[in-house]
Amino acid sequence: MTRALIPGSFDPVTFGHLDVIERTARLFDEVLVAVVENPHKSTLFSLDERTAMLAEVTGHIHNLKVDAFQGLLVDYALDRGVGAIVKGLRAVSDFEYELQMAQLNYRLSGIETLFMPTTPEHSFLSSSLVREVGGFGGDVSSMVPPPVAERLRARFGR
Ligand code: PNS
Repeated sequence: MTRALIPGSFDPVTFGHLDVIERTARLFDEVLVAVVENPHKSTLFSLDERTAMLAEVTGHIHNLKVDAFQGLLVDYALDRGVGAIVKGLRAVSDFEYELQMAQLNYRLSGIETLFMPTTPEHSFLSSSLVREVGGFGGDVSSMVPPPVAERLRARFGR
């Protein structure tokens, strides 16, 4: 059985993430989506909220599990018997950093990283843009699934 790992902050999960997750789930026996808990980075949504939103919007994917992790990604990946780490690439600008991380993670663990290009209609999307648009009361309904849009409205008191 080949298990893929999709790690991220998911603060919050966007249609771009969901696209990469769904397409990865068609290629692997099992997909583990892991939300990072970083005590040094402040997030709009708590770890529990980010994990709950992911679980809600991926409920239709039968071969997927949502989890959370702390510390080095590769330690978590080795512990869970992950065959490949999958990262979405939106644009060439993502590539430089992600290449460095892929090479580092391979050096540390021997686990391969595979890059999944996002579909063009989602290539501009990021969680930080969604937070900013949502914070100013803009319409995020084309950027995030409805339960996430609802939580953003509640978080910003709208
Ligand atoms: O959605 P993001 O914020 O781009 O995800 C980044 C993530 C979680 C993939 C990255 O920060 C990560 O792998 N964090 C775990 C710590 C780690 O292993 N860092 C790389 C070596 S220092």
